[in-house]
Amino acid sequence: MSSIYLDHAATTPMVESALIAMTSQLAQLGNPSSLHTHGRAVRKILEDAREALATEIGCLPSEIIFTASGTEANNLALKGLYWAGRDKGKNLVLISSIEHHAILDPAHWLATHENAEVIEIPVDKNGVVDLVFLQKILSTRADEIAVISVMHANNETGVLQPISEIVKIASGIPVHTDAVQSFKKIPLSFSDLGVTAMSLSAHKIGGPLGIGALILKRTVEIPSLLHGGGQEREIRSGTLNAPGIIGFAAAAASKHFDGDLVTTLRDQFVTAVQDLIPGAVINGLEADRLPGIVNVTFPGTQSDTLLLLMDSQEISCSTGSACTAGVHEASHVLLAMGHSDKTAQSSLRFSFGATSTKGECEHVLSVLPDVIARGRAANIS
Ligand SMILES: Cc1ncc(COP(=O)(O)O)c(C=O)c1O
Repeated sequence: MSSIYLDHAATTPMVESALIAMTSQLAQLGNPSSLHTHGRAVRKILEDAREALATEIGCLPSEIIFTASGTEANNLALKGLYWAGRDKGKNLVLISSIEHHAILDPAHWLATHENAEVIEIPVDKNGVVDLVFLQKILSTRADEIAVISVMHANNETGVLQPISEIVKIASGIPVHTDAVQSFKKIPLSFSDLGVTAMSLSAHKIGGPLGIGALILKRTVEIPSLLHGGGQEREIRSGTLNAPGIIGFAAAAASKHFDGDLVTTLRDQFVTAVQDLIPGAVINGLEADRLPGIVNVTFPGTQSDTLLLLMDSQEISCSTGSACTAGVHEASHVLLAMGHSDKTAQSSLRFSFGATSTKGECEHVLSVLPDVIARGRAANIS
């Protein structure tokens, strides 16, 4: 069998419709901000794409602010909502303890450089945020809170978070959610969820790299990170990436990801791993999860060693977030769920996508016991 890719949460192949739409747009001349015929032609195609994307997200076209990545959307949301709140005398930032580094790091940057007080909301052993903890803070310090940011689904475990409940509890305090992993994997509507802001990224849904979006309620104004030509409601200056946006919209409109099919594949994989590897722990097993992510702790191993052993079998998976791979640290997500340093460094994430097959899973399962045995032996020696 040729190489197997089980790292779709890091990035996933572009769907053909997005590839075609994007590559044909690459040849089109014109800056969408120009008023002449060339510019207007590109602007028209771009605005059609914005409308199509808005339909998929359940927001107004004017609520989409295109960015270069999910990371940029997260930075813009957190810093922007914090600064907007600080102008009204609020300096408290609440985030969950399992956020992606694209929220964790800007939050801590705000604490170091911008006088923010950051409180991390803990999670239970299944990786779900503690609403009682949140409620307690809100009961005494609601007036001080500039922004609450909790991800829609965790990128390491796939565990879904109770965002609707958080919006209810927050009663009017701005709530941002990082929906980079969940968009197009499970039903998601910006307006139904009721959040103030939501981050998305095209390359996680079969679109191109280099394009993301912050969905921001029409009535909300935030300061900008990038100043210049005043594009995107003057919140995100820079010539719009028309080919990327068109590819993003095409991927969002595509029906290539079948959640039921991927869930079946995931569940069969989980059952087989539990049968084959005594002691294996499926992280977040009892919580609602995304269809495509399985995070397994294999006690007595080292994640990095397992990753290399899998790679030597031509299987690509991950130790957790692709953005932190290569950094030899225990996963902050697994630590927050109650793992020790040791077990938090003994885990692999397998993430399935639209192109994953039963045959691929069977092949991975056929080599897994040997990989784990070799991983355990390497850990002892
Ligand atoms: C939950 C989450 N948020 C944000 C990001 C960053 O997105 P991007 O790769 O578009 O910068 C990722 C990427 O792995 C992610 O999983």
